[in-house]
Amino acid sequence: MIPYSKQSISKEDVSSVIKVMRSNLLTQGKHLNIFENQIAKFVGSRFSVAVSSASAGLHLSCLALNVSKKDTVWTVPNTFIASASCALHCGAKVDFVDIDENTLNICVKKLEKKLLITPKKKRPSIIIPVHFAGQPNEQEKLFNLSKKYGFKIIEDASHSLGAKRKNQKVGNCKWSELTVFSFHPVKPITTAEGGVITTNNKKLYDKLRILRNHGISRDYRKLRYKSFWYYEQIALGFNYRMNEIQAALGSSQLKRIKKFNIFRNKVAKNYFKNLKNLPIKLPTIQKDNYSTFHLFVINFDEKKIKKSYDQIYRELIKNKIGVNLHYLPVHLQPVFKKFKFKKGDFPESEKHARTGFSLPIFYKISRKEQKKVIRVLNKVFNKK
Ligand SMILES: Cc1ncc(COP(=O)(O)O)c(C=O)c1O
Repeated sequence: MIPYSKQSISKEDVSSVIKVMRSNLLTQGKHLNIFENQIAKFVGSRFSVAVSSASAGLHLSCLALNVSKKDTVWTVPNTFIASASCALHCGAKVDFVDIDENTLNICVKKLEKKLLITPKKKRPSIIIPVHFAGQPNEQEKLFNLSKKYGFKIIEDASHSLGAKRKNQKVGNCKWSELTVFSFHPVKPITTAEGGVITTNNKKLYDKLRILRNHGISRDYRKLRYKSFWYYEQIALGFNYRMNEIQAALGSSQLKRIKKFNIFRNKVAKNYFKNLKNLPIKLPTIQKDNYSTFHLFVINFDEKKIKKSYDQIYRELIKNKIGVNLHYLPVHLQPVFKKFKFKKGDFPESEKHARTGFSLPIFYKISRKEQKKVIRVLNKVFNKK
C-alpha cells in the first residue's frame, strides 16, 4: 500500500534521539528550550511553547484566552475534531462557518455574513480557522474582522509549518493571538506526538507555560514564600509537556523542513500536470499563498462520476493506493448532537466529505509510486 502520508526519519534524527536517551535528563532539560527557540525563529514569533500534541496546544490556547461556558467558539466543520473539542473541554458552545468550495479553508464571506446576522451577545469570543492541507487562510481578512467584531483568533496550523501568505510565515502571529502546530508523524515535521504554540504576547506565553506544567509557578519573587526552591500551584493545569527525546527529534527534523516542503510541492506539481484531464477538482492555491502540501486533496465530480464514495474508496484501496478522507464534518459527529446541527447546515463541508480524497504525498514518495497513483486514478475515474 502506498500510504497517503508518512514520516521521514534520517540517521541524524536517530542519533539525536539516542544521544538524549543516554543523557541524564529525559524531560524538562535544555532540548525543550532549544527546540522552542528554533521554532520561534523559524516562524518569526516572539515566543513558542512546545506541548505533548496539537490537541493539547489547542486546549491550552483556549484556556489561556479564558474560554469558559459563557463563550462561543467558531471553527470550520471540515477539520480534525480537536479544533472544536478544545472549546468543549472549556465548557464553551461551538458553532461553525462553512468552507470555501475552492480553497477548502474558512469562507471569509460566509463568516462576515454570519457575524452580521448573529446578535451581539451570541457572537464568538474566539475563532479557530484551520490552514487546511497546508494552504494558509486569508488570515489578514480574518484579522480585520476580529478587530471589527471583537473576537480573538487561534490559528490551527497543524498542517502548515513553513507555509506563507503574502510573504508572512504562518505562525508569526501577525494576524492572530496564537498559532498551534502539530508534529504527529504525518505532519510537515514530526516528534512522534507533539505540538507547539506560538505567540507574540508575553502574558499568554507565561500563562501557557504554567498551564502546561500542572499550573505550577516557580517565579518565587511573585509567590507567598520568597525562596528559590519554593513553588505554588496557582492554576489548575495539566501535564502537557513535551519531553527531551521529542524535542531533540524536533530540532533535528526542523533542519529539513524546507527540503520536505519543496519536495511535496514538486509532487503536487506532478499531480497537477498528470491529473488535469480527469473529472476531478484539483487543489486551488491562491496566488498569495505558499502551501506545504501536507495533503493533496481531490474532489470528484458527482455529476460525471456515477460511483459511490464507498465504491471509489474500495477500488483505490484494492489497487493499494492509501487514500484518506480529511474530514468527516465535525458538526455531524455524535458528540456535537447537543447543539442540534443537522445535515445540510454546512453544505460545502458536507459535499467535500462526499467527494474528497487525500492522495499519497510525502517526502521521498518515488516517481514510480506517483506514476502508479496517476495510473490507478485514471482507471478509477475514467470508467463510466
Ligand atoms: C487540523 C488539525 N488540528 C488538530 C490536530 C491534532 O493534532 P495532534 O494529533 O498533534 O493532537 C490535527 C491532527 O490530526 C489536525 O489535522
